[in-house]
This record gives sequence, C-alpha cells and structure tokens, in this order.
Amino acid sequence: MTATPADVPPILIAPSVLPADFARLGDECAALEQAGVDRIQWDVMDGRFVPNLTMGPDVIAACRSVVSVPFEAHLMIEEPDHLIPRFVEAGCELIIVHAETTRHLHRTLGAIKELGAAAAVALNPSTPIDELRHVLDLLDMVLVMTVNPGFGGQAYISTMEPKVDATRALLDTADHWIDLEVDGGISATTVGGAAGAGANVLISGSAMFRHPDGLAAAVTELRTLARSAWEDRLRGV
Ligand code: DX5
Repeated sequence: MTATPADVPPILIAPSVLPADFARLGDECAALEQAGVDRIQWDVMDGRFVPNLTMGPDVIAACRSVVSVPFEAHLMIEEPDHLIPRFVEAGCELIIVHAETTRHLHRTLGAIKELGAAAAVALNPSTPIDELRHVLDLLDMVLVMTVNPGFGGQAYISTMEPKVDATRALLDTADHWIDLEVDGGISATTVGGAAGAGANVLISGSAMFRHPDGLAAAVTELRTLARSAWEDRLRGV
C-alpha cells in the first residue's frame, strides 16, 4: 500500500516539564505553547513507585490559566485512585495511570472517564502488553515507557521497539483509535525508531529543552522525523 499523508495518524509532540526551570514553570509552559507543542505532560512522582518526588495537582493548577494547550498527568504514583479527581480538577484533560500501581485497572480507567477526562495506561519496560487486552474499550491512549521511570535524561531503550509494534497491533483490534505514546530518551536520533514502530505521541524532555536551536525547532524536527518514519512504516519500508 502506498502511504499517503492521509494515512499517517496525528503526530503529537508533548514535552515533559521535568527539565523545565521549576522557578518559572508558568513562563516555561507559555514558551512551550509558543513553540507549538500539542500537549504538556506533567511527570508526577511520589518517591515510592519511582525513586523521585516531583509535583502535585496544585502546581499544575497554578499553570493551567497560563496556557490553553491540553495538560496530561503522568501519574507515577502508587495507588493513584484517590488523587485522580484532584488532577482532573487541576486542569488535566488526560490522566495516565501505570498498570503496575492499581489493583483494579478496569475500575480506575472507568472512574477517569466518569470524571470527563481521557484515560491512558502506562507500561514499564518489563510489563507485558497483555495488561491492556481487557480494557481496550476504556482506553484513549497507551504509554509504552522507553526508560525505567523516575528521571529525565536517561538512555532510550531501543529493545522496546518490538513492544511498541506489538502494542500498535493490539490497539488496532479495538473499535476506535487509541493513541500510542512513548516516553523516555526521545530525541532526533531515537524518534524515528519509536515512530516507525508505531508510536504517534512523542514525549520529549531533555532533548527538547536542550535543543541548540530552541524549543520550536525541536518540536518541528521531532514532528517531521516522526511523520517520515510513519510514512516509511505504512509503505512497508
Ligand atoms: C521518566 C520521565 C521521563 C521524562 C522525559 O520517568 O517520564 O521519561 O518524561 O525525559 P527525557 O526526554 O529527558 O528522557
């Protein structure tokens, strides 16, 4: 099949604010929106599920009125259920829970949808995609981690690419489109492999904030490379 631009799914570029200047988070969000990002990802860490501690819903709420781009909360926290409403109230349109942190994933995803937010599941590198099989009807997105969560600036785990490909195949069995996001070590040198394997939502922290030509150039470069990789994928290259 000859790929056409119409066959390529939406390519969404979303920064992690982990490398941002936490003393100027509002200004950093405004700069990201100005740079053309599609969403902003907030890396919420509790020091238990991951060995790091970051921000809570009040920090996110403080930045909500500064920009209009959607917010997504990546909840790297144990037992997230009781805190999910706070992140929706803070202005997160998409809530990502880790399959490894909730005993009743189907119930948790249903609760997110009942709050009016989009629902996503994140899988750590060692977690099998079979965790997704019986909740596809509740999913708006899946996040396949390409690092072990907890810190920015880690090396991309390229052995996750077959897992991304298998996840895309599983999601394509659903009766609706489900986005596939990757997070961890995404840069100009790794985005092609991740998008070529089937990811259409790319999270980038370090590479985006450290891009020598600035945020807008980083967004454009990642989007262009990801689209090109998808066109090759659809052409069977
Ligand atoms: C890991 C974090 C990071 C962050 C992106 O827990 O979720 O993956 O979002 O970091 P970089 O792009 O610097 O690897």
